[in-house]
Amino acid sequence: MATTSDFNGKWALVTGASSGIGVALARELAGRSAKLILTARRVDRMEALAAELRRQGTDVRVIPADLSDPAAPEQLYAATEGAGIAVEILINNAGLGQYGAFSESLVEQELAQVRVNCEAVVRLSRLFVPRMVERGRGWVLVLASTASFQPLPYFTTYAATKVFDRFFAEGLAAEVGRFGVKVTALCPGPTESSSM
Ligand SMILES: NC(=O)c1ccc[n+]([C@@H]2O[C@H](COP(=O)([O-])OP(=O)(O)OC[C@H]3O[C@@H](n4cnc5c(N)ncnc54)[C@H](OP(=O)(O)O)[C@@H]3O)[C@@H](O)[C@H]2O)c1
Repeated sequence: MATTSDFNGKWALVTGASSGIGVALARELAGRSAKLILTARRVDRMEALAAELRRQGTDVRVIPADLSDPAAPEQLYAATEGAGIAVEILINNAGLGQYGAFSESLVEQELAQVRVNCEAVVRLSRLFVPRMVERGRGWVLVLASTASFQPLPYFTTYAATKVFDRFFAEGLAAEVGRFGVKVTALCPGPTESSSM
């Protein structure tokens, strides 16, 4: 991929494609003639987006997955690369943030952020990036945040997951750039969406 605007006819897997930034990214990619695989848990929202994009001529598949399940990335890989769909663009967008006092929170809510924001990003990247390296092209986008630039009390675990995302993207970019694979950390500030 010569530039990140060279999306024409390439398959893009977008996680968190049922709301917010994931929907916006899916629309942007479709507008640049990419083909889309949408994944998240809420199928009705993804089907509505898929119908909208298909009306504009975009090839769209919907694959539901819960990325807090460590088996989900393998299932996404099997349903795409395993079925002959070469994923050349991986958008690691799915994420969640839990605001509140850490000492009073439910540990499962803290860990859900680590699983979706970090573990799933590593698992998906570990599955799809080697195929991109073999092909000598590809692009991985990781949704970090301006929250990755300083600790955030009462958003403590979330900010820590986002610094993980940014460092992960920056390190991986330095590893695989020489094989023609780009990795980018996107660091939005507060952005209107369903939950943040
Ligand atoms: N909005 C902001 O201000 C902001 C700023 C900086 C960075 N970000 C980052 O941008 C990304 C998108 O956030 P957003 O603001 O667009 O939030 P959002 O509207 O709440 O969307 C989050 C997306 O992640 C998916 N998701 C959450 N848990 C999931 C799970 N267990 N399995 C699969 N998918 C899951 C949701 O889908 P389902 O619920 O349907 O599964 C949804 O599509 C996140 O990584 C966030 O950290 C957001």
